[in-house]
Amino acid sequence: MATFILLLLMSIFSTFIHAIPTSTSQGISRRSVTVDLPRNPAYAPNGPRQYSRALKKWGVAVPGDVDDVTNSFRGGETGDVNAASIMGDREYLSRVGFGTPFQYLNVDLDTGSADVWVYSSETKVEEPREDIFVVEKSSTAKLLNGTTWMITYADSSYAWGHAFHDSIDIGGIPLHNAVVQSAVAVSHSLSADKDIDGIFGMAYKLHSQVIPKQPTVLETLQAHLDKPLFTADLKYRSDEGAYTFGYIDSDRHIDEIKYTALLPNSTFWEFNLTGVHVAGQNIWYLQNWRVIADTGTTFMLLSPDVVDMYYSSVPTSRQDRSLGGVWHFPCNTTLPDFELGLANGWVATVPGKYINYTVFEDMPGQCMGALQPFYSEDFGILGDIFLKAVYAVFDVAGGRIGFAHKDLDL
Ligand SMILES: *[C@@H]1O[C@H](CO)[C@@H](O)[C@H](O)[C@H]1NC(C)=O
Ligand SMILES: *[C@@H]1O[C@H](CO)[C@@H](O)[C@H](O)[C@H]1NC(C)=O
Ligand SMILES: *[C@@H]1O[C@H](CO)[C@@H](O)[C@H](O)[C@H]1NC(C)=O
Ligand SMILES: *[C@@H]1O[C@H](CO)[C@@H](O)[C@H](O)[C@H]1NC(C)=O
Ligand SMILES: *[C@@H]1O[C@H](CO)[C@@H](O)[C@H](O)[C@H]1NC(C)=O
Repeated sequence: MATFILLLLMSIFSTFIHAIPTSTSQGISRRSVTVDLPRNPAYAPNGPRQYSRALKKWGVAVPGDVDDVTNSFRGGETGDVNAASIMGDREYLSRVGFGTPFQYLNVDLDTGSADVWVYSSETKVEEPREDIFVVEKSSTAKLLNGTTWMITYADSSYAWGHAFHDSIDIGGIPLHNAVVQSAVAVSHSLSADKDIDGIFGMAYKLHSQVIPKQPTVLETLQAHLDKPLFTADLKYRSDEGAYTFGYIDSDRHIDEIKYTALLPNSTFWEFNLTGVHVAGQNIWYLQNWRVIADTGTTFMLLSPDVVDMYYSSVPTSRQDRSLGGVWHFPCNTTLPDFELGLANGWVATVPGKYINYTVFEDMPGQCMGALQPFYSEDFGILGDIFLKAVYAVFDVAGGRIGFAHKDLDL
């Protein structure tokens, strides 16, 4: 029953939720984290690092100076790319180049999946698309013979194709021999979104769906970065947001970054949320909820009891069973801010204004909440609605996620 409602919710708003591959909820993609990275032809040759990796793999302590040398051999590169709000923050798109010379496409940087795929000259679509990766125009495209991939997202939309080695320009950082997945077929529910030219997965340690297994673009990128991290500063109804790679942009946050460890063995940017609070109420609701920070999901999706608790403070709100359990309210309702606390004491405030997501087409005067229930026993999703209220640091090497406050345009 719960699954049924979830699927209904997902299908109604299918274009809004396309991150998080389905395998997540079944735990299929969960694999253990080890230091044994797959061999990656894109890594710049780095003897010291390979040595220290080999030592670590076999459980041998790494002498201090070797680790120091390793650090000084980091790629040293930094970059950034715009994150432009599309359709009232339905998604955020960034321009990323593929091939030689680079062909720039608008892709959705998605921390909730690990595949980097694009519409290409190989994609069979009903209606022609404006911007695609024309494989034939890239002098460096090299088919990875025998590779296939298929990704099914939580809303049962899907895409499949095969993979190339080719160059990528992400935020001005050139990656060579990165694994670029070219779509051969894409489900209508995905291709109906004409704004997105591809999805750029940046999940923590998740493998991509490419068979046989290939290094992810994030692994390839990580080796190039000055600091092995990237940051997200999504902005409310604005194209001034940005992702930075290899550095933290101190102009984009106003206080100290507080880090939280990712949950052990998680392949996602997953951590514990430890408390929630509705502004104006006396009580904090304390419990551990596993949540995944996901730039590729529009909404904040939390356990139904938390969501009920929030809307119980909004007397005009209503949960619509005929719409798969979606919460809505008259558009003139002023929503309270929602606070989320972490184990390290850090508290994020999601402004009530952000939770007023959009007006319903079929129900004029009724607005849909950006906080909605997620009928998973396991975890919740902190999508864009949360992320645009914070400055987020995705520390790949540190296995942690950091947050700071920033100036919100309210
Ligand atoms: C791809 O692999 C298949 C079977 O392994 C082989 O028959 C074919 O010649 C290969 N094609 C290229 C272009 O290498
Ligand atoms: C993490 O993985 C290790 C090794 O596979 C395992 O021993 C451990 O129980 C796992 N921890 C959790 C919390 O799943
Ligand atoms: C996260 O929450 C779970 C469930 O309460 C708890 O068992 C676990 O120890 C917590 N992990 C961390 C890292 O706080
Ligand atoms: C919102 O609009 C309804 C009519 O559509 C009205 O009855 C109500 O008083 C309004 N509420 C506020 C807070 O303005
Ligand atoms: C809620 O959002 C709708 C649609 O964007 C807007 O028309 C309405 O004024 C907003 N309501 C409030 C109280 O800000």
